[in-house]
Amino acid sequence: MEQKDKLFRGKTLAILSGGGDTPAINSSIENVRRRALLLGFKVYGIHRGWKGLLGEGDVVDLTNVPYNGCYGGTALLSSRTNPFPTKKNPEDRVPQIMENLKRYHIDTLVTIGGDDTNGAAKRLYEQEGIPVIGFPKTIDNDLRTHTMHTYKGQEIEAVLCPGFPSGALCISELTRHLRSTNESHQRIMVLEVMGRDAGWLTGSAIFGGAEIALVPEVEMTAERKERFFEVVKKRYAEKKNLIIAVSEGVRWWNDETKELGMVYASSETDEYGHKRFGGVSGVVASEISKRTGIEARAQISGYYPRSGACSAYDRRLTSALADKAMDLLLRGEYGKMPVMRQMVDAEYLEEYNTSTIDMGSIGNHPLEAVYYDEKEFTFTDAYVDFLCHVLGEPYCPSFGSVFTPVKPW
Ligand code: F6P
Repeated sequence: MEQKDKLFRGKTLAILSGGGDTPAINSSIENVRRRALLLGFKVYGIHRGWKGLLGEGDVVDLTNVPYNGCYGGTALLSSRTNPFPTKKNPEDRVPQIMENLKRYHIDTLVTIGGDDTNGAAKRLYEQEGIPVIGFPKTIDNDLRTHTMHTYKGQEIEAVLCPGFPSGALCISELTRHLRSTNESHQRIMVLEVMGRDAGWLTGSAIFGGAEIALVPEVEMTAERKERFFEVVKKRYAEKKNLIIAVSEGVRWWNDETKELGMVYASSETDEYGHKRFGGVSGVVASEISKRTGIEARAQISGYYPRSGACSAYDRRLTSALADKAMDLLLRGEYGKMPVMRQMVDAEYLEEYNTSTIDMGSIGNHPLEAVYYDEKEFTFTDAYVDFLCHVLGEPYCPSFGSVFTPVKPW
């Protein structure tokens, strides 16, 4: 057989990752890289997301070096560079990106990202016709994937993005660990969890034993706050210690300004217009102490769920999605993103269970109402069932023993 008949020989596929990192990006890169090499592609990596296609370009060759997909973060580095003009950066960078795709002879681009990075990829596909395949990623789990979860005969539209399973594992473990210190002081612990617009990750604290959770989808208005303090008192009376998980992006009524607002760590915005969150747990803890008289502490989980190794579930998820990405490549179907069709346990994360979504319909997907109990400020059994697919059975130990009081004798 002549060389020219070999599939994709002489063609180049480039991979980039943008936005907040997750423990599953290197695994996604490894899985896409390995499959593309088998198809005959030369594989490049673009440094720092879209930034690596600006100016002279910052591109590395991944073809002949081993790639460690178990290690978290992204070895291709990341940034929140927006190719399109924004308030923060009015320059139109699209011509530079198009020029560099030509200069580096990049035939196909795989963009690993959330709403921002893949939203930009979609616009470049629609406007400039770049051959792009999106690849989902976010620990917030808020990028629409149309993954269906069947619970007691009900079909629920869930979301399953690589990175979330590893992040959820971290948060459930952290919550479980916090229990011993919390029990020792009979405190209320308010645990802040990443999640700008959606409470998926915060729900994993419930899986680790948290009793109460506040999410961005349910605004904490003045009336709701009153009810919340009542629920806190009731639950504390039952258990003598409580863990309350709070999404960083929760909308919390400010008694002084009489406005609903979010708590930011800085007023600076990134190129997609997002401010950096941080500190709502402190506000909630101090108001709880004031209103209930119970000692409360705040703990920000911060970058912990984004750190560390890729979980076993994420390894299989990225592998199944990479299979589907290659399917798209072989068919020449660009402007699409592979997704899981159905919520399944790890052993069923296989290509036959995947589907694709048109990058045109990329967007945020908040928690479905069925997953959150607004009255009790907690997640429902339906959500626990959703997470059981990813994390197995919940395990929430407590000290357990009840000692007999001794009277002076
Ligand atoms: O990418 C989403 C996210 O993880 C959010 O939950 C969080 O608000 C944000 O990233 C923080 O990102 P960084 O501080 O790295 O810009």
